[in-house]
Amino acid sequence: MADKRGLFLTLEGAEGVGKSTNIGFITAHLEENGIEYILSREPGGTLIAEEIRELLLAVHDEPMSELSELLLVFAARAQHIEAQIEPALAAGKWVVCDRFTDATFAYQGYGRGLSLEKIEQLQTMVQGTLRPDLTIILDLDPSVGMERASNRGELDRIEQEQQSFFHRVRQGYLDIAKAEPERCLVIDASKPLEQVKLDLLKALKQGLAKFA
Ligand code: TMP
Repeated sequence: MADKRGLFLTLEGAEGVGKSTNIGFITAHLEENGIEYILSREPGGTLIAEEIRELLLAVHDEPMSELSELLLVFAARAQHIEAQIEPALAAGKWVVCDRFTDATFAYQGYGRGLSLEKIEQLQTMVQGTLRPDLTIILDLDPSVGMERASNRGELDRIEQEQQSFFHRVRQGYLDIAKAEPERCLVIDASKPLEQVKLDLLKALKQGLAKFA
């Protein structure tokens, strides 16, 4: 065990907001500052969790029940926490994760309409007290985001949802950010990429100053 636990940073946003590009800016910043980190994603991040991801995103002939979807997301998360996130944090490494439980509140809660209380119960069961230290939410009009996502190729099962679903997801993220302004920083992802990068790095430095 290291003297000091690592920090847990998550990046969130609906489809096509530019998470991958922006994660690259974050990890470059950590490298410049000599901070040891692991980069991961949800659903996924371990062999088993990546298999669950495939199951979640594949289009099946049989519709997936909303409850199955919720439980699979948390099954993948339980695996990810035990095999990757906790050991890294305990070793003093930072964890940068492309999505985490805010996505469950936004997609399964706001998007699908599942009970937020049930999600909170699962959050406690699976995570105990583990929460991200800092979360950056990239915010973008879903019609722009979905156009970007469509240009990347075939849409997965969740990306095939209606526009109204992604409007609810966006609202979910904005509500979470409003409820937890200390942890969550919202960035306007409709601006030119160079500006988004500047805003992101400013937010990151601001957010991290609390832990210095
Ligand atoms: P992405 O990470 O490539 O954006 O895709 C993951 C998809 O899974 C995305 O559509 C959001 C969805 N998702 C949920 O529905 N619930 C979750 O808890 C997580 C982590 C992701």
